[in-house]
Amino acid sequence: MSTQVEEHVVSQASFQQVSGAPAPAAAPEADRVVAGRTRQFDTAGLHKSFADQGAFLYMEDFLAPEVTAQLVHSARALLDEVNRNYLPGHKQGGSVSRHTIDRLAPFIAELYRSKELIGWLEQLSGDKLMVSPADDPHAYALYYYMRPGDHIGWHYDTSYYDGRRYTLLLGVIDESSCRLDYELHTRNPDVPDVPGSVQIPPGGLVFFDGDKLRHRITPAAANEFRVSLTFEYVTDPNMRPWRRFISNMKDAIAYFGFRQVFRQMIKGKGAGA
Ligand SMILES: [Fe+2]
Repeated sequence: MSTQVEEHVVSQASFQQVSGAPAPAAAPEADRVVAGRTRQFDTAGLHKSFADQGAFLYMEDFLAPEVTAQLVHSARALLDEVNRNYLPGHKQGGSVSRHTIDRLAPFIAELYRSKELIGWLEQLSGDKLMVSPADDPHAYALYYYMRPGDHIGWHYDTSYYDGRRYTLLLGVIDESSCRLDYELHTRNPDVPDVPGSVQIPPGGLVFFDGDKLRHRITPAAANEFRVSLTFEYVTDPNMRPWRRFISNMKDAIAYFGFRQVFRQMIKGKGAGA
């Protein structure tokens, strides 16, 4: 009996040492916790800010604390699954794709599909939003900045779909000096560009139209650690074959590796998708 108690204490202590926090008791129910937060917000006011900033919004404190705790736990638990990538002059970092998340962190997939979350994002954007197709590895993914120099250079989250592509960025872990630098209105000749920069704390949110926001993540320094979660929503999930090819090649080279991207593609074809 006393041995069992000791074992429990030891395992709890060693977990805390690794993750910095105890494991959440159970995954919260995504719809309920999202609704609990969003009903406290002035959504009409946030929609106006989003529109005024050229389809961009930052909120320092968005997620319910139990959701943030669950995401922190998952981000640390998936460290062995991180796929490293390096594109000289453009990006360096790690990522865990939706396919791995589906297997090992189903709460994240549930949060991505939360009707409450999608409904609220529709109110912000004014667009009808859909989840990305099953073979898109960006639909939800974790991004890791954990070695000196990990970063992403200036870019747009270009939509290869027929419609718009929105990015939701959620802060998960930030023990880093990394910043999201951005420029608003770059695609609107009638409005001067407006530069900005934020450090996204755990539970913070950034939401934008991927074709409109020029942005980057600044390089991590030594002994820094940052994890963010991104969700991608689209207004039209159709993609022309040539664009699909370009998009798959980009994902294979820049993000998730050939094996992961093309295994899913072949699987999809085999299933008649
Ligand atoms: Fe991006």
